[in-house]
Amino acid sequence: MLMLFDHPLIQHKLGVLRDEGTSHKLFRELVCEISTLMGYEATRDMELVDIQIKTPMEEASAKKLADSDAVLVPILRAGLGMVDGLLSILPNARVGHIGLYRDHATCEPIAYYCNIPDNIADAACFVLDPMLATGGSAIAAIEQLKSRGAKKIKYLCLIAAPEGIRALSSAHGDVYIYAAAVDRCLNESGYILPGLGDAGDRLFATI
Ligand code: PRP
Ligand code: URA
Repeated sequence: MLMLFDHPLIQHKLGVLRDEGTSHKLFRELVCEISTLMGYEATRDMELVDIQIKTPMEEASAKKLADSDAVLVPILRAGLGMVDGLLSILPNARVGHIGLYRDHATCEPIAYYCNIPDNIADAACFVLDPMLATGGSAIAAIEQLKSRGAKKIKYLCLIAAPEGIRALSSAHGDVYIYAAAVDRCLNESGYILPGLGDAGDRLFATI
């Protein structure tokens, strides 16, 4: 299950994000802004309850979000760039962290950190990572979340490779994938083409 965003604001911001001349500061701002815009759609199925309020004019019926629990789970490092964007629309969300890096030779994910909140079985969990390349990191992170009881998981990335979508869909067919773009392919080193380079390095100025 894949939801692709064709909204002009997202597509415009993505073009600037990809540009190699974009500064680290602007890159961080754009990752945050695109995440907020994607979050608007990824939260569409949140439950509402009816309430009565009083406007300055009269009594009125209104809606309010049901007491639903949201958990954001960025995959370190690059997923951190998406957290504030989601928190701006889900200010009460809990945040867990999963640390994974790709082995440069094999592209296999190596786990180095996991801190997930308790009692997440009923929570709407949002796994965040700008890049879905081979899919190894996403698959491993979602396995960790499921092993801690998560049942409602959505995966948000900015750029996905077809290879990653196939791998993630076959490993976790129950997880809805939200992406701002599906790119052409991976190169021999497992980088997305045309992509945007190394998302973590561009976010944290480590290039
Ligand atoms: C990047 C990216 C994803 C992963 C995607 O992280 O942020 O987590 O690669 O690749 P995959 O789909 O092939 O697993 P990286 O391993 O470079 O770590 P970093 O964010 O700490 O730089
Ligand atoms: N991770 C990145 O940051 N970029 C890619 O193109 C692939 C994996």
